[in-house]
Amino acid sequence: YTYDLLVVGSANADLVIGVERRPHAGETVLGSDLAVHPGGKGANQAVAAARLGARTALLARVGDDDHGRLLLDSLRTADVDVSEVRTGGAPTGVALITVDPSGDNSIVVSPGANARLTPADVRDALPALRSARVVSAQLEIPLDTVGEVVRLLGPGTRFALNPSPPAPLPPEVLAACDPLIVNEHEARVVLGDTGDGAAAGERSEDWARGLLALGPRSVVITLGAEGALVADARGTARVPAVPVSAVDTTGAGDAFTAALVRRLGAGDDLPTAAAYGARVGAVAVTRRGAQASFPTADEVARATAG
Ligand code: RIB
Ligand code: NA
Repeated sequence: YTYDLLVVGSANADLVIGVERRPHAGETVLGSDLAVHPGGKGANQAVAAARLGARTALLARVGDDDHGRLLLDSLRTADVDVSEVRTGGAPTGVALITVDPSGDNSIVVSPGANARLTPADVRDALPALRSARVVSAQLEIPLDTVGEVVRLLGPGTRFALNPSPPAPLPPEVLAACDPLIVNEHEARVVLGDTGDGAAAGERSEDWARGLLALGPRSVVITLGAEGALVADARGTARVPAVPVSAVDTTGAGDAFTAALVRRLGAGDDLPTAAAYGARVGAVAVTRRGAQASFPTADEVARATAG
């Protein structure tokens, strides 16, 4: 394989403002100075994996504009292969992000060029797709595009999906996932669960079984402060959270996923790979920004030793 990981996904400019609290409808609040960071769930995963030492490529689309150049710079600096990053057709995707004092964010994404990453773009990238040990995707690009990725996967290639933002998934996409990686909200949407208010911790074992029944070979449910639950045909296992004080959680889930799939590709079992993902995500939340916050393998070892 030429690549340990090919990420198929979005690239966004993150426009970030710190706020004391978010405004209600019709209200105006003042926030911090604006920060513009490279982000997007696809580009974030690619940068996170490359920082950890994985040979990584990204299939994505950016606009022919300053935001697109910001993304390409960040990707190249992290050593991500950008030969499958297409340019043009629409402005680069933008994420409007507010971060509150607890480090939590809310995000509105304008997909822009990400929405123009088509199944034809996937077909054009077939040699790269077939040269990757692991392929990962998210849902800030069209679902049809993810469907084409799944259809064209080589027999030896492992596929991982984080369905974010969540949408109901077609059976052939679900069946390809190894693993399907979801948080509580994404689990509900994929399951078609209307939600009866029960806490995630109490229901996560049921959710894992329900999700496996939809066809994926393995499932990872992230549970915030309660860590994660991993499940496959052999059973379920709990992965503890790594406690840290959060400054900015933006992109930490992408770093978790990238680290997890990178280690799965290297032959780790699911609980071991998820535990490593939790350590990488823990470092990412202690720093500002998405891609700017992702650690190298050495930094992970130093920050979470013991
Ligand atoms: O997962 C975090 C990412 O979501 C941000 O970087 C933002 O671009 C949105 O896509
Ligand atoms: Na961060």
